[in-house]
Amino acid sequence: MSRNLLSIADLTRDEIEELLDVTDSMVEVSGRNIPKVPALRGRTVVSLFYEDSTRTRLSFDAAAKRLSADTMSFAVSSSSVNKGESVRDTIETIEAMGIDAVVVRHRSSGVPAQIAGWTDAAVVNAGDGWHQHPTQALLDAYTIRSHRGSLEGLHIGIVGDVRHSRVARSDIEAFTTLGAHVTVVAPPTLLPPSLAPWQVDVSHDLDAVLDSLDVCYLLRIQQERMTEALIPSLREYTARYGLTSERADRLAPDALIMHPGPMNRGVEIAGEVADRPAAVITEQVANGVAVRMAVLFMLLGPGRHALPPLAASDERGRDDGPPERAPQDLDVPTADPVDPALSGTEA
Ligand code: CP
Repeated sequence: MSRNLLSIADLTRDEIEELLDVTDSMVEVSGRNIPKVPALRGRTVVSLFYEDSTRTRLSFDAAAKRLSADTMSFAVSSSSVNKGESVRDTIETIEAMGIDAVVVRHRSSGVPAQIAGWTDAAVVNAGDGWHQHPTQALLDAYTIRSHRGSLEGLHIGIVGDVRHSRVARSDIEAFTTLGAHVTVVAPPTLLPPSLAPWQVDVSHDLDAVLDSLDVCYLLRIQQERMTEALIPSLREYTARYGLTSERADRLAPDALIMHPGPMNRGVEIAGEVADRPAAVITEQVANGVAVRMAVLFMLLGPGRHALPPLAASDERGRDDGPPERAPQDLDVPTADPVDPALSGTEA
């Protein structure tokens, strides 16, 4: 794995599967009476959220704390951004305080990649514009794998506002890399101008694909990103593309219903459907903590492959972690819960 996580496209199939295997260990840690291990003691993870978030922000915070990292968080509304400070100056200011990882969400595509050029800390993209949301895709893939064993050969329908969705872009890349067959289901106005980079089928008729789906993945209608009238009305959208109770009844008995949240109940998904056992939406949230633990562990812990030499943090006198080893000597962490970095607990 490279030193940053900016896009699912940066990961090979083996790397995605390795992250999901490490997530198994993190699920085990999360299930302990005291869900905390010393794996990232002495490391500092900072959250920089320039855009609203509930799930991603809280779960990265929980993930870092369960691995005993120190955390700092940044709220734009109460920061010097409001006095005109640039992203670059903000990063350089925070870096001067000593950090090992930056978790970034920004309304503009490409900001996390830009930040990666300005800091030696590992950068994790927590959602940038319409571009990518890689940890959402990893937690979605993990959730499906935990129910079906593998994504190989599954038929996954991604339904709704694909055009404005970073989740759709990351999910399509992750699901197809793991061997699933993806159909995007949307009105033409909610599809991107070109689907050429993706190996997906396209349908404008949810009713036509419903009974062949192993996973029905609903996307949120992102009204805040729509600058023009792309659908006649929410009522009409729901009539044609919403997962109503009648449509949910036509899904295969073992089909999963997924949504990244936040949901518009009664628009893309009926409130009653979101509460059915087949809807694994809160499971996705729970798995999000474990997946983000795995990501932070792989980037900062003993399993990191290509972080810059620890000299930088040694100079700051803050690194009390394991000594750096040459990349060829690094062991890849396994799902084995006896991995030394994951053993023991910290109160
Ligand atoms: N799914 C997701 O990214 O949710 P938040 O915007 O609440 O983080």
